[in-house]
Order: sequence, then structure tokens, then C-alpha cells
Amino acid sequence: MAVGVFDSGLGGLTVHQAIAARLPDLPLVYLGDNANAPYGVRTADDIFHLTCRGVERLWAEGCDLVILACNTASAAALRRIQETWLPEDKRVLGVFVPMIEALTERRWGDNSPPREVAVKHVALFATPATVASRAFQRELAFRAVGVDVEAQPCAGIVDAIELGDEILAEALVTSHVESLLRRMPHPQAAILGCTHYPLMEAAFQRALGENVTVYSQAGLVAESLADYLRRRPEFLGEGRESKYLTTGDPVRVSGKATQFMRRPIRFEAA
Ligand code: DGL
Repeated sequence: MAVGVFDSGLGGLTVHQAIAARLPDLPLVYLGDNANAPYGVRTADDIFHLTCRGVERLWAEGCDLVILACNTASAAALRRIQETWLPEDKRVLGVFVPMIEALTERRWGDNSPPREVAVKHVALFATPATVASRAFQRELAFRAVGVDVEAQPCAGIVDAIELGDEILAEALVTSHVESLLRRMPHPQAAILGCTHYPLMEAAFQRALGENVTVYSQAGLVAESLADYLRRRPEFLGEGRESKYLTTGDPVRVSGKATQFMRRPIRFEAA
């Protein structure tokens, strides 16, 4: 009954951790495509092919349901995956919609017309590919009217995290936040629209100030998965064993994962 969790690298571990806390009996197979990270500077076509390869690898582990714990893959590839590639008996879910539902105060499956919501000024921090896709604005427009979104493409943060360089990552967070605040001086909410960014959440909050509510996806995605599995238990796959797989060097990736998650994590070669 395993579920797969896919990311380009280490960021999806933030989502994995929240799912494991919410559904402690559910076996989870994590796959980080560290050999090909970062995805955020790749073309949509490239992201589509890499994501399909990762999803297939997780199917081979008995995971019929795969969570794309990666905004870049969710934004640039998920729709194409669902419309052109996915067999009937498999599911691939992204990380965008649960967060937008939380921001727009909606419950799952509430398809009523877009309406006014409390939050009016939203800062979005994401990878260049996610920002370029405009997927966040598109999903938001289905649900809310009158929300002003200012998006900051945060080049370099994922690379710094994958290299394990927390000092560089923090400096980049500060400079990207400053750049956004020049265009939107008083955001009410900030969305960390890349699953790597919660690893630097304290730095984002420091740079934004305490009056800005920072939304990160992990808890929201875990809650929405629990709800999905209650409704669709048939997508619990055959896999029984939890593990962490990487396309990169397992020793190196285990070291970085342990550094960022502050607990020992052991990756195996995918
Ligand atoms: N964690 C991925 C995301 O949520 C990072 C993408 C990348 O590799 O650039 O977007």
C-alpha cells in the first residue's frame, strides 16, 4: 500500500516528512532526481520527460499513486502528464492545488465560481520555471477574484541547498525577498512555492518580517493526501517497504538530507 513521493532533489523531503507524520502507517517511497536537479532552469519539455521517468520508477516500487512534491514539475508537467500520458489505474497528484485551496478558504472539490477572499496581496517565491508557467496565477483565478500576486523567480536557491551551502542559500533568500518587497512593499501572505524553500523558512520569515504569513505546502499536501486516500483507497499500491531512492550519489545525498532535515536519512541508488 505504498505511495510515491517525487522531487527533483531534497525539497520533497519537507512534504515527505509531513505525510509521514500525518499517515504514520503508510509506507512511502521517496525518489529524488538529484542527478538532474535543479529542474527550475530547464525547459517544460525536459521537465516533463524527467518527471515521467521518475514516476515510472516509483510505479516499479509498487506505488500506483505518486505525489509530485515539486512545484516545478507540478507547474510545468502535471497537466500534460494527466492529459496525455497517465494510464487509468495510476494517479499523479501535484502540490499546487492544496495550497491554493487553503489560501482561498476552500474545501476540496468546491467548484463554485471564483469569489473575494481575505488575502489581497500575495508574494509568490518559486523557481524560474514555475514562475514562467503562471500555473499558480491560473489555479488561483479559478477560485478567487481581486488577488494581486507578485512573483519572484528565485534563481540559485535550489542549487545552494543541493550543494549543502546554507550560508549562500540564506543570502539568496534575503536578496530575492528584498527584490520582491521593492515591487510589493506590504504583502499579507507569502507562498513558498518550491518544496526546497521550507528548508530555509526561518530565513524567509526573517527577511519578510513577522507580519507576513508564510504558507508552506507540506502540511497542506499531507492533509489533502489523507483526504484523497479516504475517498480513493484503491490507489494504495502494492509496495510495502518505505525507502529513499536517488538518481544521484547515495552517500552524498544522504549527507545533505541529514544536514537539512536534522535527522539521519539513508538514500539508496535508484
Ligand atoms: N523542489 C522543487 C520545486 O518545488 C525544486 C525544483 C528545482 O529542482 O529547481 O520546485
